[in-house]
Amino acid sequence: MRRTYSPPEVMTGKCTGCGLCVEVCPAFVFAMTNKKASVVRGDWCINCGQCGAVCPEGAILHEATAFEKGPRPGPRPALSPEQLMLLLRERRSVRLYRDEAVPKTILERIIAAGRYAPTGSNSQNVHYVALESLDEIAQLQEMTIAFYAKVFARVKGRFGAFLFRVFVGRRIVEHLQESIPKVEHAKELMDQGKDCLFYHAPAVMVVHAESWDTCSAFNCALALYNCSLMAHTLGVGCCFNGYLQSAVNNDCRIKRWLGIPQDHQCFGAMTLGYQEVQYQRLVERDPAKVVWR
Ligand SMILES: Cc1cc2nc3c(=O)[nH]c(=O)nc-3n(C[C@H](O)[C@H](O)[C@H](O)COP(=O)(O)O)c2cc1C
Repeated sequence: MRRTYSPPEVMTGKCTGCGLCVEVCPAFVFAMTNKKASVVRGDWCINCGQCGAVCPEGAILHEATAFEKGPRPGPRPALSPEQLMLLLRERRSVRLYRDEAVPKTILERIIAAGRYAPTGSNSQNVHYVALESLDEIAQLQEMTIAFYAKVFARVKGRFGAFLFRVFVGRRIVEHLQESIPKVEHAKELMDQGKDCLFYHAPAVMVVHAESWDTCSAFNCALALYNCSLMAHTLGVGCCFNGYLQSAVNNDCRIKRWLGIPQDHQCFGAMTLGYQEVQYQRLVERDPAKVVWR
């Protein structure tokens, strides 16, 4: 359920009539009246805080937005383009974790970074499930493996593959069939005690949101990526996990076990842990596939 907020208020005595709040508000909440800003459609407010953040005079009050007392200190933007590019390039998928729990306070800081990701209409509809109990992670792992054992058993058989093709499409079945040798190799390693699914991670995180909202997938992806960047700065490595995401969405037992409501979908998952390795070099990527028009 979306929280409801009280509309913003303009402190008329402080307002100089610059009109910036009118210009930046995406929800048409403000208008200029007698050369001052006024709230004309308070109930349309999406609580994004643009108005109060932009006001040079600090003339806007909003119950739900804890505006800073004064303008924030420090350079803007906070990072140079070079620093940001380095951060983006040095973040890697980490699959080797130290055998050490990530304290809850650190996980909380990681999740806090997710809260500052943008969301469509500022819905802030991203929900997190954070698993830090090794027993629970093991149970989740077991259910995920059981799910894939069933899937691969089906796509290996002619009848199962035919049914899958009808229900999920030819390309997905081809992709699964191409993965069979890799999955069988991973299974052999798993049988020898190497965790090729969660990489012995001491923490696992899943994000979910309402399925009806067309922005949910993007909201969750942005939030989880924010989390992964914050984790990186805290020395915690992460690895997104598409296998888990798909298992959650296709096995109602796993979804229920995680406490994800039926009308939600899982839009991202990742493993986390203090990283055992340091990457010494940056890597290259393909050129961007861009059409300039
Ligand atoms: C949506 C998504 C799903 C992923 N799923 C998995 C996964 O299930 N297992 C895994 O080891 N890595 C997974 N990855 C990590 C990718 O393999 C990795 O991002 C890619 O190889 C680039 O490497 P880098 O993240 O180190 O730059 C996933 C990444 C994304 C974005």
